[in-house]
Parts: sequence; C-alpha cells; structure tokens
Amino acid sequence: MSKSLPDLCIGLDGPNVRPIGIGTNAWGGVQAANSIPTNSIAVVKSALESGVRFFDTAEIYNRGRSERLLGEAIRFVADDFQNELDVVVATKFAPLPYRITKGSIVRALNGSRDRIGFNRPIGLYQIHWPYSVLSTKALMSTLASAKRDGSILQIGVSNYNAKQLRYAHKILQDEGIKLASNQVNYSLINRAPEENGVLETCQELGLTLIAYFPLASGALSGKYRSGKKASGLRRFMAQFRNASQLDPLLSMLDELGKIHERTPAQVALNWLARQENVLPIPGARYEEQARENCEAVSFYLADDEVDSLSHLSRSIGSMGGII
Ligand SMILES: NC(=O)c1ccc[n+]([C@@H]2O[C@H](COP(=O)([O-])OP(=O)(O)OC[C@H]3O[C@@H](n4cnc5c(N)ncnc54)[C@H](OP(=O)(O)O)[C@@H]3O)[C@@H](O)[C@H]2O)c1
Repeated sequence: MSKSLPDLCIGLDGPNVRPIGIGTNAWGGVQAANSIPTNSIAVVKSALESGVRFFDTAEIYNRGRSERLLGEAIRFVADDFQNELDVVVATKFAPLPYRITKGSIVRALNGSRDRIGFNRPIGLYQIHWPYSVLSTKALMSTLASAKRDGSILQIGVSNYNAKQLRYAHKILQDEGIKLASNQVNYSLINRAPEENGVLETCQELGLTLIAYFPLASGALSGKYRSGKKASGLRRFMAQFRNASQLDPLLSMLDELGKIHERTPAQVALNWLARQENVLPIPGARYEEQARENCEAVSFYLADDEVDSLSHLSRSIGSMGGII
C-alpha cells in the first residue's frame, strides 16, 4: 500500500493537488497573548516543501490582510521554488447585503486580485455563503463571465446546502461551465455533510468538498485537554465548552497516532482526507503547524481504523460550530 494518500483533482476539470490545503483565516488578525506569532512566509515555504500548494483565503479575513499576507508570502518564496504558477489560491466573494449589482462582484474580484498581487487568474473563486441580495443566477453568471475572460480558473461555493448546490451547478452547466467545489464545516465532530446530503451531492456532481474547521478549531489536536483554555471566540464553541465529551475520541486519536507515529491532529486530518473527494484545509499560522498538517496525508490509516473513528465520532454527536 502506498505510504501517502493520492492527489485529488479539484472538481472534474481542476488541477491535481495533495489532498490537504492551508487555511489562512487567522492571518493578519489579533493574536492571543503568548501565542506563537504568525509567520506566513514560513508556512507557505513549508507547505510547498511538503508538496502542498492549495491555500484558502477570503476578502473578509481580517479586512483583506489574509489575502495580502498570502500573496506576499507566495511571491517571497516563489524564487526559491520557481513554481509560483503551480500554487492554487482559493479566495471568496462576500455577498454582503449592500452588494446588489453584478458590478460589485467584479469590483470585489479585482480587489482580491490586487491584494493577492498576482498577475494571473485566481485559482478558485468561491461565493462565501448562500444568503445574498444578488440572485444565484446573477452570482453564477457573473462568475462564468469571469472564468471566460480568464480572471478566475474555477468557480466554487461555500456553506451551500444540497438544494442550493444543485441549483448553482445547473446554472453553470447551462453556461457550459462546471461548478468545482463546496466549502463546508466537516470534521470528526461535525459529520453534518454526511447527514444533510451535501457530501452525497458533491460526490454525485463531481464537486470537491473543501472541509473547513477540520481540526474543530484545534480541539482535535488534544492540546486543550489539560485544562488549557481556548482563546477568543473559540471559548463559545461547543467542543471547548463541553471539552470532556471529546475524551474518548481524543484517546483513540492518541492510540492510532502511536501506531502510525503521528500526532492526534494528523490522524484526525487523515481520516477526513480518506473521505471521497474531500480536501481538508486546516488553519496554520506558523511553520511547525503547517508541516505537521501537510504531513497528515503522508500515511494511511487502515480501513478498520477509519471505520473505528467513524463509529466512535458518530456516537459523540455533532459539535464544532459557533452554536
Ligand atoms: N467558508 C467558511 O465559511 C469558512 C469558515 C471558517 C473557516 N474557513 C476556512 O477554513 C480554514 C480552517 O478553519 P480554522 O482555521 O478556523 O479551523 P481548524 O483548521 O479546525 O483549526 C485551526 C486552529 O487549530 C490550531 N491548529 C492548527 N494546526 C494545529 C496542529 N497541527 N496542532 C495543534 N493545533 C493546531 C490553530 O490554533 P492556534 O494557532 O491558536 O494554536 C489553528 O488556528 C480557515 O483558515 C479558513 O481558510 C472557512
């Protein structure tokens, strides 16, 4: 058996990437006291060294600072790797209530491109959430034009339910374009995409399910077990308020980690990447986190280990959101 999980194609016609990416929503934000400072250049460098080249950001992450830091970091390390063109940058349009014209999408896209600072198309442009004054038809047809004029390479959505996905997919299909992905909350403690039809719909339509909160905001790393308190908004998340409920799962992650000489976080990410056409994008702020997360797909959990994790995590129930 191969030692590493195979690459994954984004959508039906996208690039092949390692089956893990880097999330950047904490970049450029306020850090918790005593936390290790964000080092975006080291994260990008270490990801590329591990063969990982998918980076997720959004225009609303820290008022564009995440996009800027990501672009700067990629440009900085590009000379070392000479493969800037191989990097897939995924960013997102925020359908804010005052955005009521197609022109506002084009302006937002140009803003993202300026901040990221590449003289080339955005790899994957996603609609951040489905609630919008603009109709799905207006959103999709504007993105279809952006794809045709070469501003973006692929179109994705985020937080769409199965029905919304089918509708967006159909509109693009009528334009001769494929919807590539849906980005949703999915982890060992949030199996909702398996239950609400989103995973099944993605698989049926050939969309990649991009999994955010794959570490349940760090809870699945086990580092909050010893009474350490989570910082910021995380405090209010169910997995931190009811931390002891995770103990059996964390014990199994420990146990499997020992067998494979991996950390609990790596086991949790490997489980997710083993689901068909699922791309986890753990947030990483510094080199060690990035390296650990990227190496999470360089081993294989045995089938029965995947099943045991699936079974146990189901019995724990759904956590991992703000509410
Ligand atoms: N589309 C959407 O609506 C949406 C929503 C949320 C997030 N996202 C995307 O999904 C990405 C991932 O979500 P997320 O970053 O919020 O949650 P996450 O990946 O579940 O958790 C990331 C947090 O866990 C900790 N961590 C990361 N790697 C670790 C490791 N190896 N060991 C121990 N702790 C580790 C870090 O916290 P510390 O640095 O504090 O240790 C990090 O901030 C985001 O960056 C963003 O790109 C999308």
